[in-house]
Amino acid sequence: MALDQAELNKILASGQKAIQDASSLALLNDCRVAYFGKKGHITDLMKQLGSLSPDQKKIAGKQINDIKQALEQSLQDKKIILEQSAGDAALKNNYIDITLPGRQSSVGSLHPITHTKNKICEIFRKLGFAVAEGPEIENEFYNFEALNIGPNHPARAMQDTFYFTNQLLLRTHTSPVQIRYMQEHPAPIKMLAPGRVYRCDFDVTHTPMFHQVEGLLVDKTCTFSDLKYIINLFLSHFFEKDIPTRFRASYFPFTEPSAEVDIQCVQCQGAGCRICKQTGWLEVMGCGMVHPKVLENGGINPEEYTGYAFGMGVERFAMLSYSVDDIRAFYENDVRLLKQFSGV
Ligand code: PHE
Repeated sequence: MALDQAELNKILASGQKAIQDASSLALLNDCRVAYFGKKGHITDLMKQLGSLSPDQKKIAGKQINDIKQALEQSLQDKKIILEQSAGDAALKNNYIDITLPGRQSSVGSLHPITHTKNKICEIFRKLGFAVAEGPEIENEFYNFEALNIGPNHPARAMQDTFYFTNQLLLRTHTSPVQIRYMQEHPAPIKMLAPGRVYRCDFDVTHTPMFHQVEGLLVDKTCTFSDLKYIINLFLSHFFEKDIPTRFRASYFPFTEPSAEVDIQCVQCQGAGCRICKQTGWLEVMGCGMVHPKVLENGGINPEEYTGYAFGMGVERFAMLSYSVDDIRAFYENDVRLLKQFSGV
């Protein structure tokens, strides 16, 4: 006995309609369960086969198999269609417009002090000076004694030193690098030592940490006029114009004779203004011929060699070239200020 073909066709038709109507993979799976699940229509039909004779089973089996295969095929076809559109939808939702401009990341720039220090070093580097460094935590010997500043020398009090212990301190100037360099390098010497220095001082023109660039030249024939020449050359290069200078006699324990160098005020060209305190001149560095005792402390024979040295504050040069009149502005890290130097 065959199964009622009309009945089977109905099952097939309604199955195919349900599959056709399934609008998602989840609904399609519901259809699969409704037909092929434990209690599904096809499973029910299969269960009926058990009560049939072998001959009847053969015929009915084929009938069921036909609609089963037809439904499986429909499920498979629909699954491909739904998967495809699910993929399309995912692509659409995660759409990346590759024509949009990228997010701009802001590029950092050198700090104005670093820039100024580099500019100073570059000028002297071209003149043949080697760049050297020394420790920021120094001992009294290198910071004072070797530079001819004895234990009771008033210059020690002048320098507002930060001490760690009786022996160790934060260097108050870059001059100790002169001694370290002389001890390590035979004369002749031509060196530049840029770096941080520390003094207990804080106002519009002083910060407890600031930068200096120290220069030292030691040779057999070295005179004060060589020193004057090189300083004038440097200043005209730094300020990018011929700038009037004057060398004022001064005193440093480690140089003899000593001078302080003034430049004509870059703000008022010597007429007198607030920046130069109406004098028309700005003090920019200290210099002098290296004291024989200092050469000796560096292991150099002062009978054979002479030398000159100079030291300048980087912040001072930065303030003058960028017209910044409060030194503290450099260390507030206000991005609005720092950004203005990104092009320099
Ligand atoms: N060390 C001195 C200071 O800090 C500057 C200086 C350096 C003067 C070298 C003369 C020679 O003021």
